[in-house]
Order: sequence, then structure tokens, then C-alpha cells
Amino acid sequence: MENKIILEMNNISKEFPGVKALDDVTLKAHAGTVHALMGENGAGKSTLMKCLFGLYKPDRGEIILNGSLVDIEDSKTALDNGISMIHQELHPVHCRSVMENIWLGRFPATGIGPFKFVDHKKMYNDTKKLFKDLNMDIDPCAIAGNLSVSKIQSMEIAKATSYNSKVIIMDEPTSSLTENEVEHLFKIIRELKSKGVAIIYISHKIEEILKIADEVTIMRDGKHIGTWAASELTTDMIISKMVGRDLTNRFPERTNVPGEVLLKVENLSSPFPKSFKNISFELRKGEVLGIGGLVGAQRTELIEALFGLRSILQGGIYINGKPVRIKSPVDAKKYKIALLTEERRVTGIFSVLPILENTVVANLSRYIKPYFILDEKKRKADAQMSVEKLRVKTPSIRSLIKDLSGGNQQKVLIARWLLTEPDILLLDEPTRGIDVGAKYEIYTIIAELAKQGKSIIMISSEMPELLGMSDRIMVMSEGRLSGIIEGKSATQEEIMRLGMLKK
Ligand SMILES: Nc1ncnc2c1ncn2[C@@H]1O[C@H](COP(=O)(O)OP(=O)(O)OP(=O)(O)O)[C@@H](O)[C@H]1O
Ligand SMILES: [Mg+2]
Repeated sequence: MENKIILEMNNISKEFPGVKALDDVTLKAHAGTVHALMGENGAGKSTLMKCLFGLYKPDRGEIILNGSLVDIEDSKTALDNGISMIHQELHPVHCRSVMENIWLGRFPATGIGPFKFVDHKKMYNDTKKLFKDLNMDIDPCAIAGNLSVSKIQSMEIAKATSYNSKVIIMDEPTSSLTENEVEHLFKIIRELKSKGVAIIYISHKIEEILKIADEVTIMRDGKHIGTWAASELTTDMIISKMVGRDLTNRFPERTNVPGEVLLKVENLSSPFPKSFKNISFELRKGEVLGIGGLVGAQRTELIEALFGLRSILQGGIYINGKPVRIKSPVDAKKYKIALLTEERRVTGIFSVLPILENTVVANLSRYIKPYFILDEKKRKADAQMSVEKLRVKTPSIRSLIKDLSGGNQQKVLIARWLLTEPDILLLDEPTRGIDVGAKYEIYTIIAELAKQGKSIIMISSEMPELLGMSDRIMVMSEGRLSGIIEGKSATQEEIMRLGMLKK
């Protein structure tokens, strides 16, 4: 590689109580290249990057930037040294506008002497220009809390580039973007590359890595396994280096046989004109129904309506042939429906509680003994069983969920809903941010549930997952149903075509 080395992280180690998160890790990034960082959930990727961004202090090791040794005490030092980071878990200031989120801590000021005011006009114009350069369509004055996950992700990308950094860390930047938006991000990345920026790119999407990365570093259990030119690697090689063994099948064999209709949805429409309209479909017992489509297809809105989180203007929902009204999640639970939401950070995690509580919380009635005593033994046994089944990487179920790696937090939430033993499981992007090995575990669980006769609706933006797991695939576009196809004979092209169908 002829580009010069801009960043060296040498022999970095970092220990948390009970976990050796980083063990003598080395990483060298070249200017004007994309350096992918890969590894299973809990391998230490985010921790390594947090050391670079000044959020953690490594126990050992050195960081060399542009040839000189630096001591990165906090994120401000990192930013001052030309390093910025897009985090895996996004925490925008929800009640503030997009532009305030972007320029937080460095608002442009106007005024004389001690009388300084925030220059809103300049802030607005700078933000407008930033978005224009990046070809993003976001209103600078919109309130961050009202934006979709993908818009928030775009906002964070814009923010990171606004520091004119020389090293930009992207921790799972595409986890909630759809294919078009990913293409767009890649364009931005190529532009940054041409300006000499080094991008450190963390992702579990191997296809994506092979497309965008120049070099790939693979980590396992806190250790550096190796660094290769992306052109030398194949999907299978990456997987076996990450997992430490060959993984021949990416999807389990499915032996479920869809039976009679359990859920019937007829002409369902939302009261909001831009949302879903006239949706009709059936879901059978023991069936996996995939839902494909682009962002804005209103897939999440539809299944949230089925869970009683959104209002319905007209149309009917039938369970076992009987009309039902689902006005709240309490109703949904009564009909044995469970929902795993897409925006798990907001709706899912009790970050200050241990894994134990987070696993069993949706299911209190299961643990109440006479006289309202909690069956502590059963709670612990269930939590322990879930942690093992989903291979959550943690020293103990007593650990706080916020200390788990991103992917492992998701596994805990999936475990929570599985414990409620639903008949209908609504999954919104169930494997987002989850590594290949754990994905396989989740697919196995879905296949097993279907075999037991449970019905599953799975929204996914990952084509291989839709094709590999669904009995039928329903594709939506702009709130309308554009087609339902058989999973066996479906192709990526057909799903794409239906997903882009205009009304
Ligand atoms: N603040 C913390 N306290 C205790 N343990 C931690 C903390 N942060 C990370 N860990 C542990 O360090 C290990 C590495 O976590 P890290 O977040 O770096 O993984 P990752 O490779 O980013 O995984 P993912 O793909 O799931 O995001 C995990 O076992 C995690 O539980
Ligand atoms: Mg991570």
C-alpha cells in the first residue's frame, strides 16, 4: 500500500472487571483508505475504537498519529487531533434540533465583547451546506427526536465529517440504513477517501466490507487475528477467521410446515396519509413471513399497528377467524403477540439494570409465586438459560446490560421476548448488528419456533436473510403492498423491483 500510515495503535490492552476486552492489539491505518475492523459480538472492536476516541484509557499500548506519539485523554483531545467517531449506539439530544445536535459544544457566536449570542442563521446555513455537500435531505431545524433511525444515522455521519477529521471511525454506520442509503454512504466515503481521510469501518455485513474496504483487520476474543488486503479475502475466509472455525451454512435447514391461517389482516389502513394503506395478508401457523422494502415503506408502522402501538383508521384484524381489536400492547399480549422493535435503544433496554432483570422483565407473571413472592430461582435459571442459548458474552447475568457489546445487548432483548412464549412473533430487523455466528443461532431459534407451530413476521433489509428464512416474502413500497412471493422461488431482483414500485 503506497498511502502513508496516518494512525498506529500499538500493543493496546484493556481490561474490564472479569473481561479482557483487548489483549495486545495492533492496528495501522493508511491515509485515503477504508480499514475495516471485523469480529464477532464482544470481540473488542468498539472498545478499541473508544480507546482511540478517548472514551477509555487503555491499560497498555501507544497511539501514534501522523508519526508522533499522542496521549488522547478525552474525546475533545481526539477531535482536536483530527479523530472523529460515529458511535454504534446513537444518542442524539432528542429534544433539540438537527443543527444544534451537529454543532453541540461549538455553536457559532455573534456579538461584541462579553455579549455573545448563538448565531442561528450561520448555524442554519452551515448545516444546510454540510447536508448539501453530502447530498442529504434533512431539515436542519427538525427536532432530532422526530427523525427516523436512518435520518439520525445520516445526521451523525454529517456531524463526524463536519470536524474535517483525518481519521473517521464508523462503528456500524449502516446498521439501520437500507441498500440505497448504504450506496449513498459509500459515495460519501469514497469522497472522504479522495481527500486523504482514513476511515475505520466496523460492520458485520461482509458483502459491504468486501465492497468498500481496502484493508481488513479481524479480531477475536480481544486479540488481533490478522490484517489482510480486502482483495485477498472471500466471505468464507472472513467468517472462518472471525469465528475460528468453518461455518458452511449461513441458514439452518427448515422443516416447518405452514398450517392453517392464524392471523388475517384485511384492508388495514393507517389514519396518516403517508403511512400504510389497504394492506391485506394472511399468516399461517408455523409460517415465517418476511417483509421486504426500502426505508419509508412503512413496514415498522404496519407491525407496530398489529401490536397496538399505532392507531388504525379502517380494516380488520382476525385471529383464528375471529375479529380482534388491538388497541394497546396489553391487548397484543393477551392475544400472545410479541414485538421486537427496531429502535431497541429507545424502547428496549433498561441500561442501568443487570442482564437478569432485562431478560425476565416482560414476563413477570411467570415468576410470581403465591403471596406475590418472586420466584428468584426460576428467574435466574431462565436468564442463565437464555444467556447460554444465545451465547451472550458476559461474565455474569448480574452484569449491567450497558456494559455488554452492542450485539450482545440485542441478544438479551431477543431472549426477553422468547421467554414470553408468544404465538405470533413480530421481529423488526432481528439480526441488526449481530455477528454471523449469533445470527445463525437466531435463525435456528426462528426455525425451531416455526416448527413448533408459532407464526413469525420478520422485517428485514438484508436480502440473504429474507430469502434464506422466509416461507413467503411480502414486499411493501410507500405504504402499499406491492406483492407477496414464495420464498423458495424468490430472487433478490424481484424483491428489489417490488420494493421500488410506485403507487
Ligand atoms: N464498560 C464496560 N464494562 C465492562 N465490560 C465491557 C465494557 N465495555 C465493553 N465491555 C466488554 O468488553 C468486550 C468487548 O466489547 P466491545 O463492545 O468492544 O465488542 P464489539 O466487538 O464492539 O462487539 P459488537 O459487535 O457486539 O458491537 C465485551 O465482552 C464487553 O462485554
Ligand atoms: Mg461494538
